[in-house]
Amino acid sequence: MIESHFSKDLLEWFDHAGRKNLPWQTPIDPYRVWVSEIMLQQTQVATVIPYFERFMSRFDNLQSLACAHVDEVLAHWAGLGYYSRGRNLHRAAQLMQDEHEGKVPNTMDALIALPGIGRSTAAAILAQSFGMQTAILDGNVKRVLARLYAIMEWPGERETEKKLWDKAENLMPAERCRDYTQAIMDLGATLCTRAKPDCSRCPCARYCKSYAQGLTSELPKRKPKKVVPTQSRTLLLIENQNRFWLDKRPPAGIWGGLFSLPEFASKEDATAFAERYFTTCELIDELQFTHTFSHYKLKAQVLHFKESGETTKSKILPKVSETAGIWIEKMSDTEASKLPALPAPIKKLLLSLSENPAAAKLL
Ligand code: ADE
Repeated sequence: MIESHFSKDLLEWFDHAGRKNLPWQTPIDPYRVWVSEIMLQQTQVATVIPYFERFMSRFDNLQSLACAHVDEVLAHWAGLGYYSRGRNLHRAAQLMQDEHEGKVPNTMDALIALPGIGRSTAAAILAQSFGMQTAILDGNVKRVLARLYAIMEWPGERETEKKLWDKAENLMPAERCRDYTQAIMDLGATLCTRAKPDCSRCPCARYCKSYAQGLTSELPKRKPKKVVPTQSRTLLLIENQNRFWLDKRPPAGIWGGLFSLPEFASKEDATAFAERYFTTCELIDELQFTHTFSHYKLKAQVLHFKESGETTKSKILPKVSETAGIWIEKMSDTEASKLPALPAPIKKLLLSLSENPAAAKLL
């Protein structure tokens, strides 16, 4: 059903609802199509139009672009973002000048060999400039096809992307390739939008699998969030005469070589340690924070003990990790720069416990 109707229905819809007067469609010329396709990567049509027109009035053919200074090209790109696109455009113009007789090449292999042109952009250039039967698969088309076939996997997955390319090629008609390419992009941009697709006006709703199954708001699936394991740890915060006790972490591993609060696997281990070495200490508070590393989430419970006895700098302190600990004075945020390197969440915690209101703001 989908294969036998899709391109015909889409083209009929395009004839009355598609975009046929975009500046790069009148006149159609490979240079203008190529520049527009690069500008349209990650940027919407309405934003691109005024940039495209200014760009064309300064660089109205491939030679003028190839001969321009890159800074002038980038000045015309200013505001569009993703400046590597502007640099690649300039570089590709020079390569077309030197290696393709000053013309936009008309084969897939030659186009994708140029900087800034991937498979979908190359296909869009070939279909729109030369009317060739080359399927595209940009973000809009991925969304249309993921919905049409109710594809339940994230389209960025390699296997899923391959499946989508196969579908895109399979649906591409042999005739009216230029219009069909524009039509499928227009459908994605105007009706089959990410939020609130307008299925009541869609020419393909009657065989759209996600419409039939009520899945349009769920598809395409978003990139799965990486699930990172949580590790619970207990940190010991010993306070004595306006000072905190820190120790140096082992050189390898998380926060390697930094001074930090001594770390224990459990509350019991931390308490036993504190009571053994700090004989007059008393638990005054318990705090929590979480910190996300790339591969796990640290859930820290902080036991705040106050040691009321005399502890001097010279007192030999127990060794939890590589080196004996140090006492550091309570500090304000301005003084914090004098401290040894501390992990960011530990520094934040210690500053919040200082009396300085400016430091408290940091939390
Ligand atoms: N996105 C990429 N190319 C496009 C085009 N030619 N028209 C509309 N949106 C697009």
